[in-house]
Amino acid sequence: MYKIAVIGGDGIGPEVTREAFKVLDKVSELKNFKYETTDYKFGSENYLKTGELMPDSVYSEYREHDAIFLGAIGDPRVEVGLVERAVIAGVRFNLDLYINLRPIKLYTEALCPLKDTKCEDVDMVVVRENTEDVYTGIGGIMKKGTPDEVAIANMVFTRKGCERAVRYAFDLAQARKKDNKVTLVDKANAIRAQDIWTRTVAEVGEEYPSITHDHAYIDAACMWLVKNPEWFDVVVTTNIFGDIFTDLGAMIQGGMGIAASGNIHPGQVSMFEPIHGSAPKYKDQNVVSPIAAIMAAQMMLDYLGEKEGAAIIENAVTSILKAGKLKSLDARSGVSTTDVGDMVVSEIITLSKSNA
Ligand code: IPM
Ligand code: MN
Repeated sequence: MYKIAVIGGDGIGPEVTREAFKVLDKVSELKNFKYETTDYKFGSENYLKTGELMPDSVYSEYREHDAIFLGAIGDPRVEVGLVERAVIAGVRFNLDLYINLRPIKLYTEALCPLKDTKCEDVDMVVVRENTEDVYTGIGGIMKKGTPDEVAIANMVFTRKGCERAVRYAFDLAQARKKDNKVTLVDKANAIRAQDIWTRTVAEVGEEYPSITHDHAYIDAACMWLVKNPEWFDVVVTTNIFGDIFTDLGAMIQGGMGIAASGNIHPGQVSMFEPIHGSAPKYKDQNVVSPIAAIMAAQMMLDYLGEKEGAAIIENAVTSILKAGKLKSLDARSGVSTTDVGDMVVSEIITLSKSNA
């Protein structure tokens, strides 16, 4: 019995979460595993009503779960970033979820905005460091609103933080058996402190003789991602660069409506979420793609060790996309959120019959 904490959150978060669990229900039935969920109401609505963001006491509750599923956070009625920092970054930091794993994979050429790009050209995983960099909040604003105002945001990198991300990336490259390559994405030419990443990759790389490593500066890496996506296998990068690079990656795989992520501390409770935001203007319209949330559930199953269940979801999504059943992965696909969820469930049933 898996215990899953669920934070539906804001905007479209709850509706895409419902579709992800609709799919999970079917998979658990087919693969004979059971799960129970605990719902948490954290998010902007709750904050506006109660003034509560994310109480410290809840972290010990999360630790009693096997995984956390998060829909989306963000609401224009609340101060910019307040709830996102408390809920998303709050969980990442407090549970020390030091890896943000973001696969970038193209399932059908029809959804790729790049011309002449084939599915086999886009198949990489980004290992985004998830607990340091400018996200630590070290810094601040002084003399606000005056001509002498000073604003400082520090990029923080620790040897421990770099090393565990880099090690994870090398292990992943070894497990994937694709190109056996790790690419460090950094900006060590301009930001000399990032030399810590260069050295860590060189040192850890020596322990992995079968894996090659190279690096690209973030600006060039964005260019390569568009021009030659096939060059990437496993990418390891800093928190902020990973944030930016993976939105670009999401567009290359068809849009924010498909890209999923895992916030992982190996061996401990970890959090899975679509990488898109709360899209408040589409809330309760039943128009957005739940595929990203469904793929987050896929990553969650994979993490929990339900490899076959995870494969069932990925196969069903792949088959729907390859068949051209969704013209886009945004709000204009013409297929409602709930219908896409139903479509994935029925594809799972069809595929399970044809494999039986
Ligand atoms: C993401 C998001 C978050 C981030 C925001 C909401 C704080 O953009 O998960 O990519 O910057 O990490
Ligand atoms: Mn982001």
